[in-house]
Amino acid sequence: MRKPLIVANWKMNTTLSDALVMTTAIKNAVHNLEVDVVLCPPFPWLVPMRELLEHGPDNLYLGAQNMWFAEKGAMTGEVSPIMLKNLADFVILGHSERRSHFNESDDLINDKVQAALNNHLKPILCVSEYKKSEEIKRTRGRPSKDSRADVFEQLKNNLKGVSSQDISKIAIAFEPVWAISTTPDTKGAASGVYAGNMLSLLKEELKSKYGSEDIEDVQMLYGGSVDSKNIGEFIGQNEIDGVLVGGASLKANEFIKICQEASGRN
Ligand code: PGA
Repeated sequence: MRKPLIVANWKMNTTLSDALVMTTAIKNAVHNLEVDVVLCPPFPWLVPMRELLEHGPDNLYLGAQNMWFAEKGAMTGEVSPIMLKNLADFVILGHSERRSHFNESDDLINDKVQAALNNHLKPILCVSEYKKSEEIKRTRGRPSKDSRADVFEQLKNNLKGVSSQDISKIAIAFEPVWAISTTPDTKGAASGVYAGNMLSLLKEELKSKYGSEDIEDVQMLYGGSVDSKNIGEFIGQNEIDGVLVGGASLKANEFIKICQEASGRN
């Protein structure tokens, strides 16, 4: 199995001091683990966190949670790939919160994917499943035809024009919206089998477009209510190369436990 990729999406949370304390704790804990870790803080914390990580470790990276596609210009409030490229190695694109709260279209996300690749930022492209039925939540088998069609459509549109040389530089995260930010009571994470099935279908779809050699290195991630208790279920699936963690990444100890579990060194 390849080294798991564990991505922390802090969203619009943390103070500067939280961010630095957490980064220090994570840095000290993950350097000898068999995982690659990406911390995606709010934009303003990228500079001080970059300074804190100046001397490594090699398996701890920074990512942005979003970006605009143009290099510069009259885009009040936006951040460009040029501004990010010496600060971050990764950028989350197409997160369901961007798609729904900010009406980001597939075309816009496609422009952002291309811009990230042109600026040596690795896109973590999120594709979302919107069906919100109890049926989907409980299905432990193959995803339904409708939800497959939705997710495939996003994948196809968001990757328009991405060459076979570039496809291996992208990570794809499958995120069922019904599984994001759930509480322990609602127990909303997808099952490992469900997530694995969808990721395997997505990989098949990529294979039919690009061929198996080109997509061998594309990392396939799952996101939605991952924590230290269920990480094993996801990482244990052959089709899952890593996870995108929101809420559970906001407590350093919990996030470190996730990394340890994924590394098999707890
Ligand atoms: P969650 O968020 O882990 O809090 O469900 C995941 C995400 O939105 O990326």
